[in-house]
Amino acid sequence: MARILTLTLNPALDLTVQLPRLEAGQVNRSDVMHTHAAGKGVNVAQVLADLGHQLTVSGFLGEDNLQAFETLFAKRGFVDAFIRVPGETRSNIKLAESDGRITDINGPGPQVSEAAQQALMDRLEQIAPGHDAVVVAGSLPLGVSGQWLQALIVRLKELGLNVALDTSGEALRAALKAGPWLIKPNTEELAEVLDCEVVSVSAQSIAAERLHAQGIEHVVISHGAEGVNWFSVGSALHATPPKVSVASTVGAGDSLLAGMLHGLLSADTPEQTLRTATAIAAMAVTQIGFGIGDAAQLAQLEQGVRVRPLTEQ
Ligand SMILES: Nc1ncnc2c1ncn2[C@@H]1O[C@H](COP(=O)(O)OP(=O)(O)OP(=O)(O)O)[C@@H](O)[C@H]1O
Ligand SMILES: [Mg+2]
Repeated sequence: MARILTLTLNPALDLTVQLPRLEAGQVNRSDVMHTHAAGKGVNVAQVLADLGHQLTVSGFLGEDNLQAFETLFAKRGFVDAFIRVPGETRSNIKLAESDGRITDINGPGPQVSEAAQQALMDRLEQIAPGHDAVVVAGSLPLGVSGQWLQALIVRLKELGLNVALDTSGEALRAALKAGPWLIKPNTEELAEVLDCEVVSVSAQSIAAERLHAQGIEHVVISHGAEGVNWFSVGSALHATPPKVSVASTVGAGDSLLAGMLHGLLSADTPEQTLRTATAIAAMAVTQIGFGIGDAAQLAQLEQGVRVRPLTEQ
């Protein structure tokens, strides 16, 4: 099993509110509410822990509402290397209606000072070398620039780590210049940063070639229920997930990323890597949360995944 570091620069407390139907401006009654310590890197860490890996989690946490995070890290046995910053970690509210529609209300995070950014760099200098890979996932907090993220990825690479990246917008645009090892945008995120259409396989393949030339070895493009296209140098695969009933798509992308990393670090075949990752992501959408509770269900989902080579069109 591998030792993996995940970085969540802008984590969140997720409050999921299930309700039959949202009536704006009215008093609404919720059937179920869950609060989770979350953020993309924290989510990826949990799925990787379910797969048996050892995790260190880091990034920035607001010191005024630490409890849910510290409880989770202790429960999961994560090494906690988060830098504490003044203020509260943001809250993200997800209103999940019974027809599957999700309304997100995302709070602002704390302002992260240059001193805190330097403290994180210093911490990573110490701890990064003990890890096999690092996942950098999610948005940037207030005060942190794309250039800083780019420099962070460059430094992590110099420290010998494979960097898997999942972010969007300006942060993704800047981070691509650092040449991470793996990226997992969805089609919209990739189209936005490359400023072109990337729905067709031929457009994706051209985009992937450009990204490979920038040193990005694995380009994993997800497209919701349609599945995922994985371009690595010299090979390209598509996976279609099995049809599942959707409880919530929260954590689908994070689960796919965790599954890809698991396969790549376990030296599974590319076909098996993509099959398992796609099944883990499908499993996430069948739940309000995500994660691998039931190995038998995962095995069954794996059998329903179709993997085929992508031929250029
Ligand atoms: N309805 C679905 N049924 C089965 N699998 C799904 C479904 N939706 C998503 N997935 C799986 O999850 C993967 C990631 O989903 P998606 O492309 O929506 O990621 P994302 O936009 O990054 O999501 P996130 O909001 O988690 O960041 C897909 O490639 C697919 O394998
Ligand atoms: Mg995503």
